[in-house]
Amino acid sequence: MSTPFTFLGTDYIHLIVGNAKQAAHFYQTQFGFELKAYSGLETGNRETANYMLQQNKIRILLTTPYMADSPLHEHLRLHGDGVKDVAFWTDNAQAAWEYVTRRGAVSVQEPTVLEDDHGKVIIASIQTYGDTIHSFVQRDKYNGPFLPGYEARSSQLNVSPVGLNFVDHFVGNQPENQMTKIAEWYEHVFGWERFWTVDDKDISTDYTALRSIVMTNDNKRIKMPINRPAAGLRKSQIQEFVEYYSGPGVQHIAMDTDDIIATVDKLTANGVEFLEVPQTYYEVLRDRVGDIDEDVADLARLGILVDRDEFGYLLQLFTKPVQDRPTLFYEIIQRKGAEGFGKGNFKALFESIEREQARRGNL
Ligand code: FE2
Repeated sequence: MSTPFTFLGTDYIHLIVGNAKQAAHFYQTQFGFELKAYSGLETGNRETANYMLQQNKIRILLTTPYMADSPLHEHLRLHGDGVKDVAFWTDNAQAAWEYVTRRGAVSVQEPTVLEDDHGKVIIASIQTYGDTIHSFVQRDKYNGPFLPGYEARSSQLNVSPVGLNFVDHFVGNQPENQMTKIAEWYEHVFGWERFWTVDDKDISTDYTALRSIVMTNDNKRIKMPINRPAAGLRKSQIQEFVEYYSGPGVQHIAMDTDDIIATVDKLTANGVEFLEVPQTYYEVLRDRVGDIDEDVADLARLGILVDRDEFGYLLQLFTKPVQDRPTLFYEIIQRKGAEGFGKGNFKALFESIEREQARRGNL
C-alpha cells in the first residue's frame, strides 16, 4: 500500500536513565559513540539533562530529570534505565501523524515545529506498547547537531568508533497474549506487513520458549520483531524481561557493521560483555551453515554466531544487559545476504541466556 509519507529509517533511540552523564560515558568508552549534542541547565533547559551520542547513522539520546517532581521519575521507577522512544526519520511528520492517528493511534504530541538558528524540525509522537512511544522526525530543513534547543558538544574522551552503521532492527517484548494484538495494531495503524515469523518449535530450549512476529514498513528500513513468552519448563526470558521492566518494552536494538570481527574485537577490548557461546557451537558450524568467508577460529574466539537463510548468511552476537535490571541489551549484526534474524541461533543463544538467568536465580 502507499502512504502519503515515507519512513526513511530510525532517527534516534531515546532512553530515560538514572544518570545520563555517566551513561554517556559508558556509550562512548564501551561502544565508541561520540558525544555530539547536549541540552541541560547550561543551555536553559531547567527540566532534563540530555546527551545525544552518535555513530554513523545511529543516534542514542540519554535523558535524566533534574527535579524530584519530574514525571520521568515514574518511568525510572517502573522500568529502570530503558527505551522511551524509538523515533522514526520521515519526509512528512504531519502526514505520518495524521495517517496513524486517523487509524486509532493515541497522540502523545501533535506535529510541532521546533526552530533555532540552524533551521526547523517538525516532530510528532504517538503511543505504542507499554510506556513506549514513536516520534516522527522531519529534519530536511535542519542542519544543527541534533534538534533545535541542543548545542553542539564534544567530549574530552578519546573515543574511536567501532564501525557501527545503522539500526538494523529493534525488538519489543510483550506479556502473554499481547503479541498478536500488537502486531495487528502495527498492521492496521501503520499499514505495515508481517516479514518473518517463528513459532516456539523454532525458538525453544528445554526451559524457555518464545514466539515472535516481525513487522516491517514498505521499504524495510524499519524492522521490528515482537516477542511474547511461550510455555516452557521454566520461566521464559521474555517473561523475565516483562517482570523486571514492569510490562512491555524494547528488549534489544541491533546495530549493523560491515566487519563484525573488527567491531567485536574493539568492543571486547573496550570491556563490552557479550553472551558466552558454548565452544561446541563451532564444532558443527560448517555443517550447519556451509562455506563462509570468516575464519571459524576468529568467530569462536569472539563468540560470534552464524545463521543462513535462502538469501545468504548473517553473523550476530548479543551483549549482556547494559543495566542491572535484566532488560535492555544490544545486538551486533553483519548481513551477508541473509534477511532473517538468526532463527537457527536461538537455541544456542537461549542456552547461553539461560546460564545467565540461572546465575541471577531467575530460572
Ligand atoms: Fe535481534
